[in-house]
Amino acid sequence: MDDFQGKTVFVAGGSSGINLAIAKSFARSGARVAVASRTPERVQAAAEALRALGADALGLAADVRDAEAIAAALAQAHEAFGDIDVLVSGAAGNFVAPALGMSAKGFRTVVDIDLNGTFNVLRAAHAYLRKPGASVLSISAPQAYNPTPYQAHVCAAKAGVDMLTRVLAMEWGGDGIRVNSIVPGPIGDTEGVRRLAPTPEALARMQASIPLGRFGAVEDIADMARFLSSARAQFVTGAVIPVDGGSSLGGARDLSAAVAA
Ligand code: NAP
Ligand code: COA
Repeated sequence: MDDFQGKTVFVAGGSSGINLAIAKSFARSGARVAVASRTPERVQAAAEALRALGADALGLAADVRDAEAIAAALAQAHEAFGDIDVLVSGAAGNFVAPALGMSAKGFRTVVDIDLNGTFNVLRAAHAYLRKPGASVLSISAPQAYNPTPYQAHVCAAKAGVDMLTRVLAMEWGGDGIRVNSIVPGPIGDTEGVRRLAPTPEALARMQASIPLGRFGAVEDIADMARFLSSARAQFVTGAVIPVDGGSSLGGARDLSAAVAA
């Protein structure tokens, strides 16, 4: 599961947080890794961090909302490192606001990054994916199946991401390409959790809603990414897999509320 020697990995949104941890874990396992995100300084810093782990690495500035820019980044990675064995689509944006408190542009911005961006990344990558053999991973979120107030944009976008996973698993199965979604639960010390739970009280409530009683670590998600891309998961495609300490089970939330009462 941990041998990615000579393999090529491309991580869209790979300059921080969970996605950078995924990129680092593949780098530690021997892969050549390209990361892409909007900010040139952040992708360069990420590439440096990957090189410090001994990997060949590229940092490419591209916005996933710009189909041409992301296609150019993928072409550059392919030119440098060859066919892509593992593609991760993880770029995302979020803010907390009621539906009536976000403009059409606010809603569209998140859908454009999370959902249309994932389509742009996967669509453009197909030409460069190893056939057969590539593993495509989209990073989804519990909002895809838990209706969450103040998250209308993310709920709509990530539900779409998981449906894209299922459709492309069917369309691309014949090429020997597997397509799966990983659904992280709340992961400690990440921008995602800082935005959703900005106070110590909110953090404590969030932690109480997780049956395993702890926040996830970025490595929990990286472990699933490597497993799904390994020889051990060759019959897994079209799957939407929570890695969340049980927090998607729903009933746990009722239980923690009852215990607190
Ligand atoms: P993060 O550190 O903010 O990572 C987001 C990444 O996406 C950054 O590298 C950012 O870099 C890039 N990005 C944002 N907009 C972009 C765009 N338009 N084009 C290209 N890249 C873009 O967040 P995180 O909390 O680790 O979340 C990572 C992923 O996990 C997301 O898909 C999120 O929905 C998912 N997730 C997170 C949690 C959690 O607990 N944190 C839970 C469930 C799901 P630039 O700013 O340089 O563009
Ligand atoms: N409440 C309501 N609307 C908001 C908002 C908030 N808290 N934050 C942003 N918006 C709206 C803006 O007002 C704007 O709409 P308007 O022009 O009609 O007012 C729209 O969203 C776009 O904002 P802008 O700042 O121009 O977008 P951007 O493309 O520069 O940034 C974001 C995208 C807003 C998602 C930004 O937070 C971001 O870059 N996030 C990436 C990191 C992240 O979210 N990480 C967590 C991943 S889970």
